[in-house]
Amino acid sequence: MTRLKRIALVGGIIVLVWGLSFGRVEAKEPTSPYDIEVKPLTTAECGQCHFSIFQTIKKEGARHQINCVRCHTQYHVYNPRKQNYDEIMPKCASCHVSATGGPFHGENKSLTPCLTCHADPHKPLAIPMSEVEASCALCHTKEGREINKYPSRHTSDVTCADCHAEKHGYIPECDACHESHSPEVKMATADCMVCHPVHKPTQITYDQETASLICAGCHDEAYNLLQKKETKHTTVKCVACHPAHKDILSCSKCHGEPHSKDMMMDTTKCGGCHGIAHDLL
Ligand code: HEC
Ligand code: HEC
Ligand code: HEC
Ligand code: HEC
Ligand code: HEC
Ligand code: HEC
Ligand code: HEC
Ligand code: HEC
Ligand code: HEC
Ligand code: HEC
Ligand code: HEC
Ligand code: HEC
Repeated sequence: MTRLKRIALVGGIIVLVWGLSFGRVEAKEPTSPYDIEVKPLTTAECGQCHFSIFQTIKKEGARHQINCVRCHTQYHVYNPRKQNYDEIMPKCASCHVSATGGPFHGENKSLTPCLTCHADPHKPLAIPMSEVEASCALCHTKEGREINKYPSRHTSDVTCADCHAEKHGYIPECDACHESHSPEVKMATADCMVCHPVHKPTQITYDQETASLICAGCHDEAYNLLQKKETKHTTVKCVACHPAHKDILSCSKCHGEPHSKDMMMDTTKCGGCHGIAHDLL
């Protein structure tokens, strides 16, 4: 083959290859810039711009830690000319309604609008105390009813918010306001509440485990008398004979009828012969 022929052949191939590749470019050119898939923004991507909101939800979002777009079905559509801000913001009622389909906590005017209490939906449980102070019993009807049904100084001298202070849901300790009346016995709030159900503190109840030293805090006379002289009653617990406050169990509940009718004839009271229960003769 001559040198010229070879050049011609190579040239032909180049032309051919160029033609082929040019043809391919030509076939692509009418493609639209929109002929691609655009993925919706992820929550992480929203967070790249709305960094502080992302952080708020991350730290305090509680059960609102859901994707932004589940609430913000539309966004970046605020138009000052339309003044449409409220319109485009997510509506609580689209996810939360009461059992009857009304406002979540009920129809009462003090329990709407939602944002007065749930001031920031990105941290829905940060509720300012000042907003709920007056409405406790509207939601907590059981406690509200109880405290009024059994009037005590917890009804008259303190409000719900005096005890449940600072933030919603806070549970106080008794010793924030009271000294123990039986300091000989270490008592936690739960121990106090065995005798004083806190919303009806004068309805005293106690269980059969209650230490006699607790009673002694107020009834030192009875306690001292029982301890002073060793009798068969010294080791009997106060609550065994006084199963409820101010109740006195009759002797026969424990002793039946220990003596014959003859022996009992003259006396109606066992104490005539045995002295008082706290100081048996
Ligand atoms: C549970 C629903 C909910 C979720 C989840 C949620 N938002 Fe919101 N967001 C709202 C509501 C309701 C408002 C309107 C608050 C108002 O009117 O004061 C709002 C307001 C906003 C605003 C405008 C007001 C402001 O605070 O600047 C931005 C921006 C915003 N959200 C971004 C986000 C981003 C970003 C995410 C996810 C990281 C997110 N939101 C998740 C409900 C939600
Ligand atoms: C590239 C940055 C950027 C990204 C990503 C972004 N935003 Fe925004 N967004 C802004 C800016 C800027 C504004 C206007 C100023 C402002 O309100 O903070 C705004 C405003 C908003 C508003 C209030 C005004 C309106 O018109 O809605 C909401 C709600 C919002 N963004 C939600 C979101 C959500 C949800 C996402 C993710 C799906 C998101 N943004 C992603 C920058 C961004
Ligand atoms: C897109 C749906 C949606 C919207 C809109 C929405 N929420 Fe929620 N919210 C939820 C979900 C899901 C939960 C989790 C509990 C559940 O499954 O009911 C929740 C839980 C809550 C909780 C309890 C949080 C916790 O951790 O105990 C509060 C309070 C609350 N929402 C208030 C609001 C308020 C106020 C608004 C309006 C500003 C609102 N939500 C808007 C979906 C939503
Ligand atoms: C007067 C104040 C107040 C208003 C107004 C209010 N809430 Fe609440 N909401 C609360 C309090 C307090 C809680 C209990 C929060 C907690 O668990 O610590 C609560 C709890 C919730 C919960 C969680 C319930 C659960 O059982 O876990 C949802 C959901 C909720 N509110 C939605 C709403 C919606 C929707 C509105 C508007 C119709 C609204 N709230 C208005 C004070 C309010
Ligand atoms: C809008 C309704 C609403 C209002 C108003 C409200 N609460 Fe609640 N509260 C709730 C809900 C819902 C819960 C959580 C669910 C539950 O355990 O009942 C809760 C929980 C509590 C708890 C914690 C219960 C526990 O098991 O730890 C206490 C305590 C409490 N509230 C006291 C108050 C007091 C005091 C006020 C007034 C200062 C008040 N609440 C106002 C709805 C309300
Ligand atoms: C003297 C202080 C005090 C007052 C006043 C008070 N509470 Fe309480 N409350 C407590 C204590 C302490 C507990 C914890 C009880 C327990 O653990 O059994 C409690 C528990 C609760 C609970 C949770 C109940 C549960 O079963 O988990 C609610 C709700 C509540 N209080 C609401 C109220 C409301 C509403 C008022 C006003 C009508 C009120 N409280 C007044 C001290 C108080
Ligand atoms: C926020 C303060 C506060 C807290 C917390 C508190 N109390 Fe009281 N309580 C009072 C006040 C004020 C009175 C009335 C004056 C007095 O007796 O000290 C009272 C009175 C009482 C009384 C007498 C009631 C009457 O009508 O005679 C009992 C019993 C009582 N409290 C028990 C408790 C117990 C038990 C607890 C804990 C579960 C507790 N309190 C927590 C403030 C409080
Ligand atoms: C064994 C039951 C019992 C226990 C436990 C108990 N108390 Fe009492 N408490 C009583 C009795 C009984 C009264 C007197 C009631 C009466 O006057 O009729 C009383 C009265 C009170 C009074 C009214 C004022 C006074 O001192 O007479 C307060 C306040 C009180 N208790 C607080 C507490 C506190 C706080 C605790 C926990 C440290 C506590 N109690 C534990 C039985 C108990
Ligand atoms: C906080 C003080 C206090 C505590 C603690 C206390 N009491 Fe009392 N108790 C009283 C008061 C006050 C009375 C009424 C006194 C009166 O009526 O003269 C009373 C009355 C009684 C009475 C009836 C007295 C009578 O004259 O009929 C008995 C019995 C009694 N208490 C037993 C107990 C027992 C048992 C305990 C321990 C489980 C106990 N008390 C704890 C304060 C207390
Ligand atoms: C074995 C039974 C028994 C035991 C144990 C007992 N009591 Fe009594 N208590 C009585 C009887 C019975 C009376 C009535 C007066 C009498 O006949 O002695 C009484 C009366 C009282 C009274 C009223 C008047 C008075 O005498 O002071 C008080 C208060 C009292 N007891 C407190 C206590 C306390 C506190 C304890 C424990 C430290 C206690 N009791 C243990 C049976 C008992
Ligand atoms: C809660 C039960 C209970 C009550 C109520 C009770 N006692 Fe006792 N009593 C006892 C016990 C337990 C003993 C010790 C029995 C033993 O050691 O065998 C005892 C012992 C006695 C003894 C001494 C017996 C002996 O063996 O020396 C006499 C006497 C006595 N009781 C009288 C009374 C009188 C009188 C009353 C009523 C005022 C009374 N008791 C109420 C539980 C009770
Ligand atoms: C007339 C005086 C008298 C009267 C009334 C009396 N007792 Fe006795 N009791 C005695 C004497 C004396 C003994 C000791 C002799 C004995 O062990 O049998 C005794 C013994 C007892 C014992 C111990 C006996 C045993 O079985 O171990 C008990 C318990 C007792 N009495 C309880 C009572 C009770 C309860 C009453 C009232 C229902 C009562 N007594 C009324 C005089 C009396």
